[in-house]
Amino acid sequence: MASFRSVFIAVIIATALLVAALLIQARRPRVEVVQARPEAVRATGKCASCHRAETAAIVQEYELSRHAAVGTTCLDCHGAAEGQEKYEHRGFVLSKEVTAKNCTQCHAREYEEFLRSRHAAPAYAAILGPGSFTPEQVAFSEQYNPGAVKRPAHPLTGLEGPAAVASGCISCHSVGKPNKDGSIGACTACHTRHRSSVALARLPETCGQCHMGPDHSQLEIYRESKHGIMFNAFRGEMNLDAKPNALQVADMPVPTCATCHMSGLGGGPPTHNPGVRLSYYLFAEITQKRATYQQGRDAMTAVCANCHASAHIKRFFADAESVVTSVNSRVQEAKTLMDGLRARGLLTPTALDEPIEYTYFDFWHYYGRTAKHGAFMGGADFVQWHGNYELVKGLVELKAQAAGLQAPAGAH
Ligand code: HEC
Ligand code: HEC
Ligand code: HEC
Ligand code: HEC
Ligand code: HEC
Ligand code: HEC
Ligand code: HEC
Ligand code: HEC
Repeated sequence: MASFRSVFIAVIIATALLVAALLIQARRPRVEVVQARPEAVRATGKCASCHRAETAAIVQEYELSRHAAVGTTCLDCHGAAEGQEKYEHRGFVLSKEVTAKNCTQCHAREYEEFLRSRHAAPAYAAILGPGSFTPEQVAFSEQYNPGAVKRPAHPLTGLEGPAAVASGCISCHSVGKPNKDGSIGACTACHTRHRSSVALARLPETCGQCHMGPDHSQLEIYRESKHGIMFNAFRGEMNLDAKPNALQVADMPVPTCATCHMSGLGGGPPTHNPGVRLSYYLFAEITQKRATYQQGRDAMTAVCANCHASAHIKRFFADAESVVTSVNSRVQEAKTLMDGLRARGLLTPTALDEPIEYTYFDFWHYYGRTAKHGAFMGGADFVQWHGNYELVKGLVELKAQAAGLQAPAGAH
């Protein structure tokens, strides 16, 4: 009897110990459990156990990321890379800032592509000019985007002042800001800092945080297009987490911004330079073909061809190109009128100090662009009511305002 009792107690104690061990194990940070590398335990376990209390959301986001799953640690990103200022933090040496420089240690290809794009130096120079870049950085970017960095600061920056520029223009255009460590840009604009997610980067809203509003209504146009309608209806069926080098139509049967401009759908080459699939400068006052027109068109057509017949694609681009031609001729007419006023001394040389200059700026910058973007991305209402209708109406207004300017000059 006594021996049965002691066996019984021993079993109870053993079970209790086992349960306790399992409980303790389960409460340890997940990464520490999966990842036995000693340096991982040191850099993620310690950071995470303290930061779970201090900044819970950050640890949670990190643990849901692919980085946590593959054992990339807090210190892999927060440790100082070459050229970064260091500081002591709870027994660790960290970098003062985490930039594209830290990411490029493991993702050099993405960084090199990004660096050649208009998301890099051109985005920032569009606001403030080349002043904050080194001559080498300017020369590098100008090779790929002539005239996009070597340019004056935008006239609106002076008119609106530093507070408006910092919280407005720069918030969007900082995707290409220069960092103190010599790198350029913020990878986190599309991936966020700790989730580092491709699913997030594939969502239209992620691009739409910047690509929206009357001067570049890409998000609104997309939402109106068949693609946008279907994406919203069926997004729950899509595998937005599919590995980028293996993304198939079956994962995402409806394209988002990323699909057309960046992803490697169906084995095509992915890119972090969204310029390589474009054939025009649609954002420009008068739209011209890019030097890489044909490569751009071929690359974009190859994306559409995953899902559409080639005659359908050709017809679509032909229609869009005729919108570019007709918008160009309307803007040219207005531009000739404005150039004439300036040549005759009826306008000051200063930009944006007279009402008619705003009428003209809205004319091409809002309505001209919108019509062109709408035509290439399936937004009929933007080609029509927010585009061509406003252009027709705007030309009447411009002519009336110009006539008003001419009156006093003709009086003497
Ligand atoms: C013993 C606790 C503890 C440990 C360990 C710890 N931190 Fe912190 N950390 C903090 C506290 C507290 C703050 C300040 C939080 C606040 O301001 O609310 C902080 C702030 C930070 C900041 C914000 C910048 C700053 O200095 O204010 C970063 C980045 C950071 N920690 C990263 C890390 C990383 C990476 C590790 C591991 C290599 C780590 N921490 C380890 C407690 C800790
Ligand atoms: C993929 C790289 C990456 C990893 C991994 C990473 N971080 Fe960060 N973290 C960043 C970036 C980028 C920033 C923004 C830094 C800046 O603005 O200078 C940041 C900022 C922070 C901040 C300050 C910002 C805030 O919102 O309070 C804290 C704290 C922090 N990280 C803690 C951690 C901890 C703890 C871990 C591990 C559990 C970790 N990070 C893992 C990239 C990373
Ligand atoms: C120490 C190396 C290292 C650093 C530093 C690092 N990463 Fe990663 N990253 C990885 C690895 C490894 C993977 C997983 C690759 C795979 O799944 O094949 C990954 C995957 C990713 C993914 C794909 C995630 C997914 O959902 O499939 C993104 C996006 C990403 N990293 C962005 C970043 C960004 C942004 C930074 C800088 C803030 C950064 N990484 C810093 C190593 C790193
Ligand atoms: C909501 C985000 C956002 C804000 C705020 C913003 N921009 Fe932009 N800007 C963009 C996007 C997105 C484009 C790209 C449009 C395209 O390619 O069709 C762009 C394009 C431009 C361009 C044309 C591209 C080029 O290199 O010539 C200029 C110039 C410009 N912005 C200047 C400004 C100025 C100046 C301000 C502030 C007065 C400003 N932007 C505020 C998002 C923004
Ligand atoms: C304009 C938004 C944007 C910016 C900025 C951006 N990315 Fe991405 N990134 C994406 C998209 C979209 C994908 C997914 C492409 C796809 O669908 O295949 C992606 C995918 C990735 C992947 C996964 C690649 C793979 O093959 O597994 C990595 C790693 C990555 N990005 C790193 C970076 C780094 C590093 C930077 C900064 C130099 C950066 N990204 C900046 C949008 C962006
Ligand atoms: C079905 C494919 C497709 C989708 C989806 C799509 N685009 Fe586009 N996009 C295009 C095409 C085609 C062009 C014109 C290409 C050219 O220049 O030949 C274009 C042009 C642009 C431009 C104009 C660049 C310039 O020269 O001014 C920007 C910016 C842009 N898209 C951003 C976006 C954003 C942001 C989204 C999502 C909200 C999006 N696109 C969705 C196909 C697409
Ligand atoms: C943080 C703001 C921001 C985000 C997020 C962003 N962009 Fe942009 N994008 C810009 C700005 C600013 C420009 C204009 C740069 C210039 O020409 O000066 C631009 C330009 C572009 C262009 C035109 C490139 C060229 O060569 O003319 C395309 C296409 C584009 N973005 C696509 C995307 C896509 C797709 C996404 C999402 C995966 C995205 N962008 C996310 C700010 C952003
Ligand atoms: C990942 C697949 C996919 C890609 C890539 C794609 N589309 Fe589509 N597209 C669709 C689907 C699905 C529909 C809805 C078809 C239907 O009505 O059955 C659609 C509809 C359209 C329509 C509307 C057809 C109509 O008459 O209503 C046009 C136009 C279009 N796509 C053009 C393009 C162009 C141009 C490209 C490349 C720049 C492109 N698509 C890229 C999947 C795709």
